[in-house]
Amino acid sequence: MHIIDIIAKKRDGMALSKEEIDFLIHSYTQGHIPDYQMSAFLMATYFQKMNDEEATYLALAMRDSGDSIDLSSIPGIKVDKHSTGGVGDKVTLILGPLLASLGVKFAKMSGRGLGHTGGTIDKLESIPGYQVVLKIEDFIRQVNEIGIAIVGQSGDVAPADKKLYALRDVTATVDVIPLIASSIMSKKLASGADAIVLDVKVGHGAFMKTESEAIKLAELMVSIGRLAGKKMTAILTGMDEPLGHKIGNGLEVFEAIETLHGRGPKDLVDVTVEIGAHLLLDALLETNFDVAKKRLHEALNNGKAYAKFLELVKAQGGDTKAMAKPETLLSKHLIPIFAKANGYVTDINALEIGKAAMRLGAGRETKEDSIYLDVGIDLLKKIGDPVQIGDPIAMLYVRDKGIAEASALVSQAYQIGREQKHLTLIKKTIK
Ligand code: URA
Repeated sequence: MHIIDIIAKKRDGMALSKEEIDFLIHSYTQGHIPDYQMSAFLMATYFQKMNDEEATYLALAMRDSGDSIDLSSIPGIKVDKHSTGGVGDKVTLILGPLLASLGVKFAKMSGRGLGHTGGTIDKLESIPGYQVVLKIEDFIRQVNEIGIAIVGQSGDVAPADKKLYALRDVTATVDVIPLIASSIMSKKLASGADAIVLDVKVGHGAFMKTESEAIKLAELMVSIGRLAGKKMTAILTGMDEPLGHKIGNGLEVFEAIETLHGRGPKDLVDVTVEIGAHLLLDALLETNFDVAKKRLHEALNNGKAYAKFLELVKAQGGDTKAMAKPETLLSKHLIPIFAKANGYVTDINALEIGKAAMRLGAGRETKEDSIYLDVGIDLLKKIGDPVQIGDPIAMLYVRDKGIAEASALVSQAYQIGREQKHLTLIKKTIK
């Protein structure tokens, strides 16, 4: 088999076989295919796309390029969720303890934030003492003991994807649905869960800007996961404004704690409960979707989910006393942003808000950047809220950087108009 023939075949719009894709990924990971040939292949794929079988072969080949987590020593159905990336998305922090409080096994490896989207592991590190690195045997023991562990990625998961993603990033070939689907699914399939819910974000703060693109991506990922033997669901949720009110690591933990006390904002609770209900059914712990939702709401309101969260924090070395005073996780230096018109909030550009949080130091521009855990943005007004000139619409929690730039970005992100808009948050479910 020769790489030139594979490039030419893709250039001419033909489908590749499993053997060809296995050869491509294996040889590239081993360093036998240079970046210039792989770049040509990626650009051919950009124009000619891939069919569902090719995308599945690609996901499986990338999964098999590295370590897969074996969770078989944890009895029962293990669940996982994945978000394609949004602003203010702290669902995992709430969903994990919530599901574990109802008996679901939640063994989760999460990532760090990059660019305008945050990462669960950075958020958890804003809890004093919380250890994001566990040995795999301790990770499994903890899930067996308390039903939940949330740690950073360990081992060498899907190294082919890492190498390929870095190349896509510099060759303008990120934006290809089969490549995105196989990249995400290679890592999810390696994570060892039996049931996965994908939260595919759509809107200007998300990877997928239109609903039709998001549906295509969601359907392809569900199909890849199912062919690999997983129970799969995808939901499409809006990222037309950030999720919840708070953006930034400590701020998001604060809002997660509020939500676990039954005081969460409606959009955040709705997305969490929707994903949770699918997973409760997948875990065979409930048969009726509406009853599942009711049970999840109850666990948020009766303290059960919060108690499980404290167990998680304690098990991973975190300071549970600090959780009773979550305001200690936030910077004391506040800068308000004021409304410039009368009317209703009609838009809050999530991408601009994400960038503003990054400028304040909440996120990194490159993998090596260090971040501040206590800075970020609290959106005091959301889409549909009435405002008057001079009302505070957002509060910046700051340290020593990016204040002027972030203030301008947040101010520009808000649009105020005459009509009161109502958003549909959960747009579609793909089973
Ligand atoms: N996230 C991934 O993991 N891979 C992509 O290709 C895009 C988003």
